[in-house]
Amino acid sequence: MKIGVPKEIKNNESRVGMTPAGVFELTKNNHIVFVQSTAGDGSGFFDEDYRNVGAIIVKSIEEVYSLSEMIIKVKEPIAEEYPQIKPHHILFTYFHFASSEELTVAMLKSKAVCIAYETVEDTDGSLPLLTPMSEVAGRMAIQQGAKYLEKPIKGRGVLLGGVPGVPPGRVLVLGAGVVGVQAAKMAAGLGAHVTILDTNMKRLRYVNDVMPSHVVTEFSSEYNIRQHIKDHDLIIGGVLIKGSKAPKLITREMLKEMRPGTVIVDVAVDQGGCFETTVPTTHENPTYIIDDVIHYCVANMPGAVPYTSTMALTNVTLPYVLLLANLGWENACENDKSLAKGLNIVHGKCVYKEIIDAFDWSENHLVAEI
Ligand SMILES: NC(=O)c1ccc[n+]([C@@H]2O[C@H](COP(=O)([O-])OP(=O)(O)OC[C@H]3O[C@@H](n4cnc5c(N)ncnc54)[C@H](O)[C@@H]3O)[C@@H](O)[C@H]2O)c1
Repeated sequence: MKIGVPKEIKNNESRVGMTPAGVFELTKNNHIVFVQSTAGDGSGFFDEDYRNVGAIIVKSIEEVYSLSEMIIKVKEPIAEEYPQIKPHHILFTYFHFASSEELTVAMLKSKAVCIAYETVEDTDGSLPLLTPMSEVAGRMAIQQGAKYLEKPIKGRGVLLGGVPGVPPGRVLVLGAGVVGVQAAKMAAGLGAHVTILDTNMKRLRYVNDVMPSHVVTEFSSEYNIRQHIKDHDLIIGGVLIKGSKAPKLITREMLKEMRPGTVIVDVAVDQGGCFETTVPTTHENPTYIIDDVIHYCVANMPGAVPYTSTMALTNVTLPYVLLLANLGWENACENDKSLAKGLNIVHGKCVYKEIIDAFDWSENHLVAEI
């Protein structure tokens, strides 16, 4: 198969869909790989590294798309990429369709096959291609939150770990999934007091078993959230309802209950955000303030640490890329049910129910059973 790796053009996105190690595996399997020049620079992989393992370096994004059958990316295509996407293309990347009707309609119109990293699902319900980025984002949420708590950037002026004689900062984590657990682990490592909430008791039992005693678990209810936002310095939103928009756990009116300078980091922003006041931001301009509460809502947090993120992502995507390249998308999805769950749009039809629900679309209109 002919496989294309374009350079990411979303704001401040320096990750790349494939490392030279991935190209090596594909060319060993007799596939042809086109890599856009400088696509890997931001992650520390240069044209020469790709050329050395058999990639063909092409200059423009137009060449990558026109020469390739399958496109391997990191982020969803942005508007200027839409015209490049044709019905014969397979796109394998993050899409997060439920949070953008515009993107969903554009991909339906393209008639391409869109396989979303974030909905590839193992038999135990875990999301193997979301996990590494959630691990990165969960850890980064504390690093960023700690920084924005500093007074010169309008935070409360709290040092998360405290010092001898002064209590540590308090971190509230909403969701005890991958993001939540990694955030709790980092915050606990800094010495902060951590409260972590979830509706899933199994997750809370797990967290309770593995975390130190200054990480406290509680059931996630509106009442509990309302109590905790009053005295926590840093609030991390890490909830997920698979394929759907995130539930709004913190409303605009609740911001008034927080202390001035509280920092809220909505990691779930890519699914619409779990705070009512969430608006997606970029690494260039990551924060804004409403009612004296600092909002950090960067939709591609791992993009800021591309070296770590590219390696972590491609470690898990490569086996699926090989399967798709070796068998074609239909046979690959037939043989691997986890991969089949990644099918979101197939030749103009939306085949993932939660996306249709997210937009209140009629099933007859857009769903095809495959
Ligand atoms: N901004 C970024 O750069 C970035 C990067 C990676 C992941 N994410 C996003 O972070 C979010 C979390 O990802 P994850 O991998 O941790 O998901 P996950 O499925 O591992 O965890 C989500 C958790 O949320 C819990 N939950 C659901 N409803 C809840 C509620 N009302 N109250 C409390 N908890 C609730 C679930 O029980 C689950 O444990 C996703 O939206 C994901 O797309 C964003």
